[in-house]
Amino acid sequence: LAVYQKHGQLKDKRIVISAGGTVEAIDPVRYISNRSSGKMGYALARAAAEQGADVTLVSATTQLPDPVGVTTIHIQSAQELSEQMFAMLPEADAIIMAAAVSDYRMSQTAENKLKKQDSGQLHLTLVENPDILAQLGSAKTNQYLVGFAAETQNLMTYAQNKLKKKNADMLVANDVSKDQVGFGYDTNQVTILTKDNEPESLPLQSKITLAREIMKKISVAING
Ligand code: CTP
Ligand code: CA
Repeated sequence: LAVYQKHGQLKDKRIVISAGGTVEAIDPVRYISNRSSGKMGYALARAAAEQGADVTLVSATTQLPDPVGVTTIHIQSAQELSEQMFAMLPEADAIIMAAAVSDYRMSQTAENKLKKQDSGQLHLTLVENPDILAQLGSAKTNQYLVGFAAETQNLMTYAQNKLKKKNADMLVANDVSKDQVGFGYDTNQVTILTKDNEPESLPLQSKITLAREIMKKISVAING
């Protein structure tokens, strides 16, 4: 790592990366989350550190150890993730939203453990979380903003829409209905969309190899 850091293409660049699945409390003992393993975001953090970047990883739930040479901040909810990302936005050169953010949270978290209902049913009221990527997209000045899109159908159409709507500079789209792609796996197959270039489909590869390729593209973009 030390050798890379002296000569890295991302030396003196600040990269902030979110990873893992956010956790929304239902009551003191239960929560809503998703199948994100955090592996892609952690691989990106490692790849950025290898290139000499000053990396902050904002991590929701994962089973992964904190990467070496990276500042790791642990959060739970989308709200906490949002606070961390916005706190670091002004100093960042690039921001990567690899976290799987829970689209909804409880309208009110129960203070006490919910008891079983006599009716045999339980109705929870959920409200939408803020779209952190879109809000970063509106607030950014010259930070390079990268998002992900996890889709199970109409990959390119949905991904193009997200790139535009959220004002991202790059969107990494993966079809998570395919075997070995995305959530939980050590491999991924993605198509990279950018504002300026044609979409580029990359082969199925390990997440760390892919992370290095993505970081290379980001370093080209931010080094001009
Ligand atoms: N994202 C975010 N805040 C949210 C939801 C998503 O910042 N509340 C980010 C994710 O981190 C990812 C990108 O937006 O970088 C796309 O997430 P995705 O779940 O694929 O898209 P959504 O906009 O949530 O739309 P949908 O789930 O309906 O496909
Ligand atoms: Ca979503």
